Amino acid sequence: VAPAAPPQQAPFPLTFTVHATWNKARVATLSLPHNPRCRTPMFMPVGTQGAIKGLTAQQMEDLDVDLILGNTYFLSLRPGGEAMEKLGGLHKFASWRRAMLTDSGGFQMVSLLDLSELTEEGVSFISPVDGTRMLLTPEKSIQIQNQIGADVMMALDDVVSSLTTGPRVEEAMHRTIRWLDRCYAAHKRPTEQNLFAIVQGGLDPRLRTMCMAEMKKRDGHIPGYAIGGLSGGEDKNLFWRVVHQCTSELPQNKPRYLMGVGYPLDLLVCSALGVDMFDCVYPCRTARFGTALADCPGGVIHLRSDKFALSKEPIDAQCHCMVCHEYTMGRLHQLACHEGGAELITMHNIAYQMRHMQRIRDAIKGGTFPDLVRYFIRTL
Ligand code: GUN
Ligand code: ZN
Repeated sequence: VAPAAPPQQAPFPLTFTVHATWNKARVATLSLPHNPRCRTPMFMPVGTQGAIKGLTAQQMEDLDVDLILGNTYFLSLRPGGEAMEKLGGLHKFASWRRAMLTDSGGFQMVSLLDLSELTEEGVSFISPVDGTRMLLTPEKSIQIQNQIGADVMMALDDVVSSLTTGPRVEEAMHRTIRWLDRCYAAHKRPTEQNLFAIVQGGLDPRLRTMCMAEMKKRDGHIPGYAIGGLSGGEDKNLFWRVVHQCTSELPQNKPRYLMGVGYPLDLLVCSALGVDMFDCVYPCRTARFGTALADCPGGVIHLRSDKFALSKEPIDAQCHCMVCHEYTMGRLHQLACHEGGAELITMHNIAYQMRHMQRIRDAIKGGTFPDLVRYFIRTL
């Protein structure tokens, strides 16, 4: 049993209580305003308008989802921050009772839009709705996130691809710190919403250390830390090394969130390294291509493949999801080949990720993590 963590400083609207550790890995309860019982390490599915495409809020609850991501960028375009506030926030809008997290929007713009431009003031971009140029500043991002009302909000950061090298990486890290101060100054609901900082610095350990040192000076304002700038196609060993470095240098008593990471193997390795929260579009995106997640060689089942045309088997006989109870792979093959069934495969894939996190937590608690790693490596 882990020693009691020292209390988090400010009256943050979260508590983080560690129940068990195995080396650097930990099992904890993250209490947030809309869900006092988020079990970590946790996977957080990504919704766009506060819901996962094709699934109802009730279905997501039934899948054991504790927290979903909302997309500040899309929500700021439609219905917009003010409308969102008038509608009672994203929770009411999406009829989702459990916890929510919103990303700051800059990352989505930079990764989705060729026409985004970056200055010290913020990120400017051409609105895909009406073609006008808009400017997302740290203040604007926080204003919109306050209107959306998620349990966790993210600071606006300057993100560069993990494959970028040279002075741009250092510049982005320093700008991320300056923007962080502007984000905290703009935050109007610090007793209702948590604002997480995002560590940047690319693949350079020196820059990561500098970034974390600056953030630790501000620790009294920071309820949780994210590790950003990864999952961009960098070498796995470098990626894991940066995660290991960050989880070693960040405060022990606060949650750590690794952004944009969600392959089952990465969830296993990074949980071992002490990451508590993950998000990724992967299980939903891959479902739209007819791909189901499973414990099998390769870790995926391509349901459009002709070899499943006559299958009477479920995706996974061990899975408790509705799809594995009611649909054969033959039927899913038919649907997937004709651009259908995505929401069914999404449902199974989310169930898979949730069950994967449950076995990771069980292995940390039971001291059987090496057994899980062995099983995983042997099966996949
Ligand atoms: N999503 C995945 N990586 C990142 C990142 O570095 N910053 C932000 N804001 N969102 C992300
Ligand atoms: Zn299933």
